[in-house]
Amino acid sequence: MLSVEDLYAGYGAILALRGVSLQVKAGELVALIGANGAGKSTLMATIAGVLRPFRGQITFEGQSLLALSPEEIVRRGIALVPEGRRIFPSLTVAENLRLGAATRRDKAAVERDIEEMCTRFPILGKRFHQPGGTLSGGEQQQLAIARALMARPRLLMMDEPSLGLSPILVDEVFAMIRQLHKSGVTILLVEQNVERTLDIANRVYLLNTGRVECQGTPEQLRAQVDIVGAYLGDMWRGD
Ligand SMILES: Nc1ncnc2c1ncn2[C@@H]1O[C@H](COP(=O)(O)OP(=O)(O)O)[C@@H](O)[C@H]1O
Ligand SMILES: [Mg+2]
Repeated sequence: MLSVEDLYAGYGAILALRGVSLQVKAGELVALIGANGAGKSTLMATIAGVLRPFRGQITFEGQSLLALSPEEIVRRGIALVPEGRRIFPSLTVAENLRLGAATRRDKAAVERDIEEMCTRFPILGKRFHQPGGTLSGGEQQQLAIARALMARPRLLMMDEPSLGLSPILVDEVFAMIRQLHKSGVTILLVEQNVERTLDIANRVYLLNTGRVECQGTPEQLRAQVDIVGAYLGDMWRGD
């Protein structure tokens, strides 16, 4: 479904990705782990078209994404839930959801999907006309995920969705991710909760200073606990 080949990207003189290759097959939940600064958010931003790579290739369902705008990439079926949620605090829940569907023309279906999001995430129905900024952290995370789903993505990328949430809300976010995956959404997930991520992922990539240090199934990663532990430190046994 998604193929990243020998990708180099960064910011000015800073090279944040140094030859990253990664594959996501339809139906998979692929996790991206690694210490702060490893390049995880940069990789997601580059796939989403927000950042232009210096070198390499990104293809989605056989077609290159490199010349496409972020909007066109959303239209192709890739949505990103960015780090730090970034909902629009002064817009209502309803308006935030509608913005997630800005690339769609099937307005009647958009309205039906908004209703479906309020069923799937009841708190959003309750807070429908409230400004997004008045929601709690966990509620905003649900809104950010629901907003991304409004684009009807076939590939959903989530950048640290549980960051800054209380333990109970972290449980909820992981339950939500598991359920989304079950419902057929292909997922690329960046997470700091390594153990829990290994519990739900089909495959895992460990990034270290812009390179894929190791990859495999969760079982294979667990078998390399020494290597993985060296790169992740406390995060590895973080919870
Ligand atoms: N906007 C930016 N400008 C300059 N450097 C950045 C920017 N964003 C990230 N970086 C640098 O790029 C590297 C990778 O960062 P990032 O992709 O955010 O890592 P991660 O998400 O794994 O924590 C880091 O060295 C970071 O300091
Ligand atoms: Mg990041």
